[in-house]
Amino acid sequence: MRRLPLLVDPHGREHRDLRISLTDHCNLRCTYCMPEQGVPWLPKATLLALPELLAIAEVAVGAGISEIRLTGGEPLLRRDIVEIVAGLAALSGPAGRPEVSMTTNGIGLAKLAGALAEAGLARVNVSLDTLRPDRFVQLARRDRLADTLAGIEASLAAGLGPLKLNTVLMRGINTDEAVDLLRHALGIGAELRFIEQMPLDAGHTWTREGMVTADETQSLLASAFDLRALPGRGAAPAERFEVRPVGSPDAEPLGTVGIIASVTRPFCGNCDRLRLTADGQLRNCLFATGETDLRTPLRSGASDEELTALIHENLAAKLPGHGINDPDFLQPRRPMSAIGG
Ligand code: 5AD
Ligand code: SF4
Repeated sequence: MRRLPLLVDPHGREHRDLRISLTDHCNLRCTYCMPEQGVPWLPKATLLALPELLAIAEVAVGAGISEIRLTGGEPLLRRDIVEIVAGLAALSGPAGRPEVSMTTNGIGLAKLAGALAEAGLARVNVSLDTLRPDRFVQLARRDRLADTLAGIEASLAAGLGPLKLNTVLMRGINTDEAVDLLRHALGIGAELRFIEQMPLDAGHTWTREGMVTADETQSLLASAFDLRALPGRGAAPAERFEVRPVGSPDAEPLGTVGIIASVTRPFCGNCDRLRLTADGQLRNCLFATGETDLRTPLRSGASDEELTALIHENLAAKLPGHGINDPDFLQPRRPMSAIGG
């Protein structure tokens, strides 16, 4: 087989992880992501169809991608989600078959977890910001907590693990649940990850001062738990800790917790991720201001070599960091639901 150039950017970072947003639609309206009304949906004709998606993913896997994460919007809203997973899991490149995982709000999992596992999905990350139904309505503007919890159970039963839960803490809204959420995750054998809120909300209301920092999260958890840092983070966004009951340093760990401090402890230096939007635009960062159009060339018959060259062109423009902390930082034009987490 001809050896293709690996996906190395100008800062020496080798890229292995491709996040594919499958749709910008969602059955929730989380305040840190989507507006309540008036979402500017992507035009339907621009969304990649199954064969187009697989064609781009095949080129990316051929170029060195070994992990594919499906996101949205809510990826389970795609009617062809099981076929998508099966098609991606069957690809193969220099690193073998890619590992396919998914970030989801969990709502569709009660129905789909078994079929997805069978199709080759390895694991899921489910968003969970509260365990209180009334608060779920306040945060996600829909009354669906029971569906999310049922989805979490179904994914455990289907073996879609290790299961990860994602929590964004917001001051005065769910900070009082940090300990309960971690206790719940430990109880079901999941790893909870606290994610610092990033400036990606459709309403552009994020402020550096308003956000709950990783330091604050750690001190909230310290009231009940002792956290001990685990080594070997690699390119992973999460810093991981063993969790023990507070005051029991010799106890067996209850499990692990992750902290994703994108804003206060940026991990751009180890980034190995590229992102494909649902309308076929390649982004080299959540916060990139530019995109490389793969959809138009694909639809006009571009060869695999030409698509590979476009991926390398996108990578060549990758900046060393996201610049959230710079005074002239500009929030991306697309909201999180249209980029993919
Ligand atoms: N900041 C941090 N995390 C976010 N997510 C969505 N919007 C934001 C934001 N503004 C997270 C969700 C979900 C994943 C897709 O991204 O919690 O788990
Ligand atoms: Fe939907 Fe996820 Fe955005 Fe919430 S964060 S509105 S679940 S896409």
